[in-house]
Amino acid sequence: MSLPLPSAHAVRDLRAAIAAWRADGLTIGFVPTMGALHAGHIALVDQALARCDRVVASVFVNPAQFAPGEDFDAYPRTLDADAAKLAGAGCHLLYAPSAREMYPDGFATTISLSGPAEGLESAARPHFFSGVATVVAKLLNQVRPDAAVFGEKDYQQYLVIRRLAADLDLPVAIEAGPTVREADGLALSSRNVYLSPEDRRRAARLNVILADFARALAAGRLADEAEADALEAARASFDGVDYMTARCADTLAPLGPGAVDRPARVLGAVRLGSTRLIDNRAVSPAG
Ligand code: PAF
Repeated sequence: MSLPLPSAHAVRDLRAAIAAWRADGLTIGFVPTMGALHAGHIALVDQALARCDRVVASVFVNPAQFAPGEDFDAYPRTLDADAAKLAGAGCHLLYAPSAREMYPDGFATTISLSGPAEGLESAARPHFFSGVATVVAKLLNQVRPDAAVFGEKDYQQYLVIRRLAADLDLPVAIEAGPTVREADGLALSSRNVYLSPEDRRRAARLNVILADFARALAAGRLADEAEADALEAARASFDGVDYMTARCADTLAPLGPGAVDRPARVLGAVRLGSTRLIDNRAVSPAG
């Protein structure tokens, strides 16, 4: 396979490339992905490039974070196009390991989590964050970057990884990259390709509902009333609603029913046909 930028498929080759950069005193940024790259991923690469001398992006569709019956087989795999986008963005190295490289025979370790991993995504996908945390811990240990950038669209994942890095004393700065949106406000996601044209049109409602929810809370509306309105709007717009809620921005702990008095985040997960969409918005309380 010939790719338009330097690439490594084995930990050994990855480490050799990184050791050469370290020997020259260069800093390393890292953007882990599952491929099917879009402008949101490229913005994370740009952020890493602004901070570090060299940037590694990984493309690995991680089987450990999919449950049986989820879309692991159908997940879009577009390595050549991904490599072209990364090369165009100025990324220095693509790391695309095989499943066997990441999970060799006998692999027997899984990270278990609590804190920000509890509830929300975990209610619908109980296996998900241990699969993410295990692969991210491995990737961070393989690359050993100075900074790693994760999309804020997966806000709970970002907090879980920030917690993981702190708890395991990983010497890396975990940064969040802002969500990139389509013109109608839909957050970019590799899974948007699953949407039919009609569902794609309806999908834009998620951002509108979350933005209204965040605005109401910032204006001092009682959290339980604003949440009830957002839930009703989501139920009227989508085929199912997994959650539509406001949480503490730092820990994802539930807020009280009253007006919000600290930085918060509104988060939603909805279903359109068989596609599940998630999104979130920051809430900055007035005064
Ligand atoms: O957000 C993703 O694409 C994945 O969950 C990640 C962080 C690359 C781990 O597989």
